[in-house]
This record gives sequence, C-alpha cells and structure tokens, in this order.
Amino acid sequence: MTSATAPGKIILFGEHAVVYGRPAIAVPVVQVRATATITDAPPASGCLLIAQDIGEEVRLADAAVNHPLALVLRLALAAAGISHEPDWRVVLTSDIPIASGLGSGAAISAALVRATLNHARQPAPPETVSRLVFRSEELFHGTPSGIDNTVIAYERPLWFVKGQPPQSFAVGQPFTLAIADSGIPSPTKESVGAVRAAWQADPAAYESLFDRIADIVHGARRAIADGNLAALGALMNANQQRLQELGVSSPALEKLIAAARRAGAAGAKLSGGGLGGNVIALVDGETAERVQTDLLAAGAKRVIVTRIGDV
Ligand code: MEV
Repeated sequence: MTSATAPGKIILFGEHAVVYGRPAIAVPVVQVRATATITDAPPASGCLLIAQDIGEEVRLADAAVNHPLALVLRLALAAAGISHEPDWRVVLTSDIPIASGLGSGAAISAALVRATLNHARQPAPPETVSRLVFRSEELFHGTPSGIDNTVIAYERPLWFVKGQPPQSFAVGQPFTLAIADSGIPSPTKESVGAVRAAWQADPAAYESLFDRIADIVHGARRAIADGNLAALGALMNANQQRLQELGVSSPALEKLIAAARRAGAAGAKLSGGGLGGNVIALVDGETAERVQTDLLAAGAKRVIVTRIGDV
C-alpha cells in the first residue's frame, strides 16, 4: 500500500494580478490535507479510482478523456513510465473544503500524482508534481498562473512569478493568520474569467490596478522580512481595497473582513479567487481568539488558525 498527501494553500498577497505576470505570495496550509492511497488489486481487475468524499467511483478504462481525476492519473502513470492500465485500487480523501480558495482540487491532484509515482517506485520531486498538476489545472481552470499547484507541491511559503522558478523568502518574525471560510463556493475559473472579461474591456485600467497590487506584494515581502506586522496588516487592507476594485469581493466577504478588523486583526483580505471562499486575517496571541469568535458570529463556517514562518 502507498499513501501520499498534499496540503491546502492560501494566497497571502497578489491573487489575480499574478495571472497577468505580477508577483504573488502563497503559503501552504498544513492543517488540512488531501490523501491518495493506492493498493494492488487482483491481476486483470484494472484500475478503480474512488473519490470517497464525493461518492464517486470510476474505472480508469471507462473514464472519459476529460475526467479530471482520471486525467491526472493518466498523466502520472505516463510520467512513471507505466503504459498499461495497472491493477490498482486508488482511494482519494480530503478534509480541504471544496471550492473554498484553499486549493482542494490541486491538492487532491498532487496527492494522486505523488502516490502514483511512489507506488511505481519513481521519484516525485516537487517540480514534477507541480508540472503534472498544472496540466490538469490548465484544462479545468481556464488560465491559471500556476501558483496553486506550485505552493502545494513545494509545501513551503513561496514568492511566485508566472513562468519562473518559485523563490523562498525571509520571515523576520513568525506570524499568525486566521483563515475563515465564508461557506460560499468560489470556483476559481469563474472569478478568473470575470477579471479576464473586465481586463479585455478596459486593459489600461486593469493593468494599472495590477501594477498597484504588485507594489503591495513587494512591500509585503519587505514587511515579512523585517517582521513588521503592523505594516503587513496595512498592506493586507490595501490589497483588499484593490481586490474590491477588481470586482472579486462580495458583501459576505466584506462582512467577515470588517468583523475581523473590528475584533482587532491588524489586517484582513479575501484570499484566492474571491466572490466567495476564504478571508484571511492577521492576528496575534491577544487578538486570535476574539477574531475567531467574531468571524464565526459574522457567518464564517469554519476558522483555521495557522502560523507562518515557524521552522
Ligand atoms: C487562485 O488561488 C489564485 C488566482 O490568482 C488564480 C491563479 O493564480 O491561477 C485567483
């Protein structure tokens, strides 16, 4: 039996602008994970793919060419040098909320790629996992930047620019984020598509917004390196303002953001595609509990508290 896992993720700064070549900062969320488990099945029984959480079961031989999980498995098998259908039972589970901005789809794909390569006794370096997951993201998410598959495959905080190798960055002082799930599904394809349509209608205005977001992301990298958490919080608020201008915030997200700020968060913003999904709030030992309570009272379905920069 072979088991492999992959974490969730959040975008700290720069979502959407990253699709247009600007930098972004993303971190893994290791409290939630997707798992793929492969066991050998009797000879000539074929390969059965079971997505337990969504109650789906499909034989690889019968799966449509564009079946998302079958596609990832086929890519991984090819990368492992397996050209025939193996006799495997592949079980996928995840505690990452679906379509919430935490990268559930990319994490399930990454766990599946890792388990496939491991079961075939092939190396599964992050660049290979990231590349294979990106192929499926491209098919199902329109025009992804590649940040989700990259941070999930590398499992460390990353500075990311589309088409470039990801970079690590310095964290002067560890910091804590509360991640609140609005409970409103946020398929990335929709928000990315909406921003693309708006950009096509008025490229100059949107390019200038993306440039202003890029300035914020550079400022955030400096604030993180300096351990300047007050500046970091202010930059989260500034990024949120620009995301609002991009049209990807929503009344429900604004309500959560306002609740977090009122409860003492140093800054708060949506994270990921927006229109639903998650908001993140910068908290500390004194504010974490109240922010968490108030986020739940303001409608959050679940709050995860995660530390960034602990080694
Ligand atoms: C989604 O986690 C981040 C977006 O910037 C899309 C992408 O980068 O592919 C909204």
